[in-house]
Amino acid sequence: MSEAWALRPHAPALGTVLCALEEVPRDNGREVCFGEGEKAFRVVLFRLDTSDEASPELRAYINECPHFFIQYNFNADTFCVYDIEGQKDLMCAHHTAMFHLSDGRCYEGPCLGKRLIEVPVKLLNQQVVIG
Ligand code: FES
Repeated sequence: MSEAWALRPHAPALGTVLCALEEVPRDNGREVCFGEGEKAFRVVLFRLDTSDEASPELRAYINECPHFFIQYNFNADTFCVYDIEGQKDLMCAHHTAMFHLSDGRCYEGPCLGKRLIEVPVKLLNQQVVIG
């Protein structure tokens, strides 16, 4: 995984708590913000699984579409997440680029082949933390 996320303004330190696991929806995303304004560090958490409570599969990406480098949602904590052919995908709300949430790769749309910037996360005592 690239370390590009860590170079962003307001990037939180490893070990920073983002939220409780139960706050990450199974069918949408949960945004956590550090800093304010255009330079804020916006990370969005997604759950890839639908059933495994013991070891949920999480992904976190900076909320920035690689097409125009703007947020990929319009409304707070409302993301276009779909189940397509057995995996969770994200659609950018602006020009409908499609991304696999498993690896952040755009597989259809105006930024084909580019990737969302992943942020490493792990689960610690039912809390999602950077790391
Ligand atoms: S800004 Fe996301 S597809 Fe254009």
